[in-house]
Amino acid sequence: EINMAKIRHNNILDTVDSVLSVSKKKGIIHLHAQDQTLDGQTLTLNGKQVLHFGTCGYLGLEHHPQVKAGAIDAIVRYGTQFPMSRTYISNPLYSELEALVQEMYQAPVVISKNCTLSHLTTIPSIIRSTDLIILDHQVHASVQEAVKKMLTQGVTVEMIRHNNLEMLEDRIKKLRNKYDKIWYMADGVYSMYGDFAPIKDMIALAEKYEQLYLYVDDAHGMSWAGQHGTGYVMSQMPDGLYRKMILTANLGKGFGACGGLSLFPNEEWYHKVNTFGGPLTFSVQIEPATLGAALASARIHLSDEIYRYQTELQQKIAYFNELLQKTNLPLVHENTSPIFFIGTGTMDMGNYLVQELINDGIYVNLATFPAVPAKNIGIRITISLNNSLEAIKTMAEKLNYHFNRALLATDQTDQKIRKAFKMVPQPEIVNAAPKYTPAQPFTVKCYTTIEKIDATLWNKHLGHQGMFDHEGLKFLEKSFSGHPQPENNWDFKYYLVEDALGQVILMTFLVVALHKEDMFAPDSVSRAIEQERLFNPYYLTSTGMILGSLFTEGNHLFVDKNSPHWQTALKVVLEELYRQQEKSNASNIMF
Ligand SMILES: Cc1ncc(COP(=O)(O)O)c(C=O)c1O
Repeated sequence: EINMAKIRHNNILDTVDSVLSVSKKKGIIHLHAQDQTLDGQTLTLNGKQVLHFGTCGYLGLEHHPQVKAGAIDAIVRYGTQFPMSRTYISNPLYSELEALVQEMYQAPVVISKNCTLSHLTTIPSIIRSTDLIILDHQVHASVQEAVKKMLTQGVTVEMIRHNNLEMLEDRIKKLRNKYDKIWYMADGVYSMYGDFAPIKDMIALAEKYEQLYLYVDDAHGMSWAGQHGTGYVMSQMPDGLYRKMILTANLGKGFGACGGLSLFPNEEWYHKVNTFGGPLTFSVQIEPATLGAALASARIHLSDEIYRYQTELQQKIAYFNELLQKTNLPLVHENTSPIFFIGTGTMDMGNYLVQELINDGIYVNLATFPAVPAKNIGIRITISLNNSLEAIKTMAEKLNYHFNRALLATDQTDQKIRKAFKMVPQPEIVNAAPKYTPAQPFTVKCYTTIEKIDATLWNKHLGHQGMFDHEGLKFLEKSFSGHPQPENNWDFKYYLVEDALGQVILMTFLVVALHKEDMFAPDSVSRAIEQERLFNPYYLTSTGMILGSLFTEGNHLFVDKNSPHWQTALKVVLEELYRQQEKSNASNIMF
């Protein structure tokens, strides 16, 4: 048995809460627009007008006169709500909308109130306890939520690395005789990094293995791509919806209304979902205004007008790509999607950059944990038809200016960012700006054993919390060394920062150890992975650095916030940790 504890669910919630609270306090998330009217070009935030580069309304259809008129007309005719379950009666506009959507996709469709509900409606109706679900590591949270429901019904769930079809094939080869169907779940266009799923390769794999089925969420690919705006995934399937794929799409982003589509390659699945698809039965239906807007938008999608918008958006996307090429900004994926991700690596730099951009009149999204991995923070910029070329140019210039300032101010480097995102490093650029070097009126010490640290000092600041007092750590060091199995040998590192008078400003410790990559995954995912580990004990494991240890609980970091240098001390220790990470070849640092 590999000796690795699981981090408690509450610890994760606390971490997320504290991460988001910092950004909230800085006035960059959980904001409220303060405008009397909106047109998609600007917003008023914190009393200031800013250019809007954070919308998912890529074609600006939510401001299209016909779409607005469709909503108003529906309210006038049918009122603001039709408060009944669709099990009894659907509003008259539903069948009209279904017919238009079917015309767009040439496939039967179930329409839900939003895309999250599409997953909750479809996944439990189609997947059986004899099937296996394999999630892409980055598949959208709404898919993962619906899959959680399947766990209670005994369905086995696994996860593979992002877009890694080799790993997927490996799992299929191993497991195909154990399950009726193996469902791989992925996004068409990933909502944060804007990268694409390898749809054609996924289909080729499904052709190779009869057991493989595909469930793809193309929420962000809708409208700006594909014939009749049916989306990125459909654009990769010129012969129509693949026979073993369920596709979901979203009426609430590029489409300009609200609602979720589940599209099926056969009538059988359609009927299964439509007859008794959970929330479809017990939850309220889409309100008339939204149905009216969706109908008007569907008519635009079925006309040539949509291609005009698609082309114009592609021109704007190409223009922004061109501007970015003239800079050294770390664009994580360069492609034709309207979602751009500029890496900052750290939260510190992400917060700083978004705040400075807002102050300078540009709104972009902070992409933070848990929507992206903690090491891969950055800013998400979306381009919509409402952004003029001039506005895009202004944004690109300000982005470049503030990005370089944020690097210096937060002690981040371009190299570190590129490394975190596994990007090709840029040649070193000599920066004309003077290098920001914080004064260091203190010393940083690193030890590899607790024996080198005075017991009274340690116990006063950190060791009064039980398990990890001076004696406890001596015991742990002894227990986790000299074993034949690598997972039972941990490297201990102790960090101490003292000021000029020898007062401790910061004290912490960590272990470098082999750990399981599913530490944060739900129990049932881990259970499935453990099955595999019976035969392949190092499956989905890697070396990581864990603040504290895998064994101890409590606060593993002492910082004297009365010291004027505590923030700099923290920064310097973080630098040390990243250096150590490189030396130990550790895949991540867990705080
Ligand atoms: C990929 C993806 N799927 C689903 C959703 C959820 O859609 P809805 O808001 O309609 O529930 C989102 C929302 O951002 C998304 O990005």
